Amino acid sequence: MGTVTELNHPLVQHHLTHLRDSRTSPHIFRAQVRRLAILLAEQVCRDLPLKTKQIETPLEPMDGKVLSSRIGLVPILRAGLGMTDALLDLLPTAEVWHLGFYRDEETLQPVEYYQKFSSSPPDVVFVLDPMLATGGSASESINMIKKWGASDIRMLSIIAAPEGIARVRKKHPDVPIFVCGIDRGLNNAAYILPGLGDAGDRIFNTL
Ligand code: PRP
Ligand code: URA
Repeated sequence: MGTVTELNHPLVQHHLTHLRDSRTSPHIFRAQVRRLAILLAEQVCRDLPLKTKQIETPLEPMDGKVLSSRIGLVPILRAGLGMTDALLDLLPTAEVWHLGFYRDEETLQPVEYYQKFSSSPPDVVFVLDPMLATGGSASESINMIKKWGASDIRMLSIIAAPEGIARVRKKHPDVPIFVCGIDRGLNNAAYILPGLGDAGDRIFNTL
């Protein structure tokens, strides 16, 4: 089974609480998504390989270290877009490829509506989606990223339900999952409890 890393950090608890609060405005909500995405990025990048780069400081030459992998970010539209800039701040040379899914409100199944991938996949792909609820959107996205040819795939979510984690781990045991918090479960409409409501609508002010 794939590993699950739940961030356990006072900063995560603090920013997650402000994110969840129904009184948080879209403006602050976006800032909180961004802050939490930075904290996720710190964890998910821990084992990225480095190569030596010779530079000269103002005082002397030295062998520095820089990232050696081709890194791809795949935000799942729409809500994943809210995490993208945070990752790009830390990984400014990363490639951004897109997948569009929405959940059919009746069947709760993910429906694909957009895909933009290059001819060759990056060395490592970070899938970005703040919400991992039933896990349908994440599992389908990972299927498509595997068909693209990527093998090192990592899932980054802000809040997950146990059901979604179980589904992704079962279907994709090779994909590690990084989350800020794992919540109690899902309601009848497959919303995460206590959750934060609809992440896409809160990011884009389309409630
Ligand atoms: C949300 C969320 C995930 C999906 C999670 O997207 O951003 O993509 O639901 O649910 P699942 O794990 O049950 O598949 P939504 O369909 O609301 O689209 P949006 O991002 O455009 O709001
Ligand atoms: N998508 C969301 O945005 N929120 C949930 O709780 C579940 C799916």
